[in-house]
Amino acid sequence: MQAHPVITIDGPAASGKSSVARLVAGRRGAIYVNTGNMYRAMTWAVLQSGVDATDAEAVRAAAAAVILDSPVAEGRTQVSVNGRVLGDDELNSDPVNKAVSLVARVPEVRERLVAAQRALACLGPLVMEGRDIGSVVFPDSPLKFYIDASEEVRAARRRAQGHTDQVAERDRLDSTRKTSPLVVPQGAVVIDNSRLTLDQAVEAVLSRLP
Ligand code: DC
Repeated sequence: MQAHPVITIDGPAASGKSSVARLVAGRRGAIYVNTGNMYRAMTWAVLQSGVDATDAEAVRAAAAAVILDSPVAEGRTQVSVNGRVLGDDELNSDPVNKAVSLVARVPEVRERLVAAQRALACLGPLVMEGRDIGSVVFPDSPLKFYIDASEEVRAARRRAQGHTDQVAERDRLDSTRKTSPLVVPQGAVVIDNSRLTLDQAVEAVLSRLP
């Protein structure tokens, strides 16, 4: 049951949705939730246990033993694994970048994280970003957005962040997986962020909210 309103923001890797979601949350006094970091934390924990991420059965078993939590600090959720909050360096390490789409396609991993994401709506109004937030996690939300950008812009943005991973390959896996693939959610406002400044993209979202 959704206790507080949730603004959902979905889109492919490096479309700029995280920056937009964080600022929209600040402007609306809502808690910012980056669900990609939850999948990244699970991936980090699974890799720590020595599991090969291509082995879905081994991933399922390793993930089942992980205790994942989302404590709120300074208006946003962090992610902790077995009681330890993970830092950006751990969440965005090369091994995690490479394996996260493999871990995120395992249905049992998604079931657990989707349940944890729904439970966060008890904390207060949320701005939640990810791949399936408007389509699966909160399909009844009337406040849905899909932020897109061209592949060139997204690759350049990712490089500027200091990452060398292949966003196109991650998008391919995220869009073609069987369980809750990346889609434009029904009823979502689509924003093409290829040529917008951050302020313009934030305004594009805020101007459509009641
Ligand atoms: O938002 P991000 O790029 O940090 O997300 C990392 C990966 O996590 C992404 O490639 C797919 C997965 N993910 C997902 O499957 N569902 C979500 N709601 C969020 C992320």
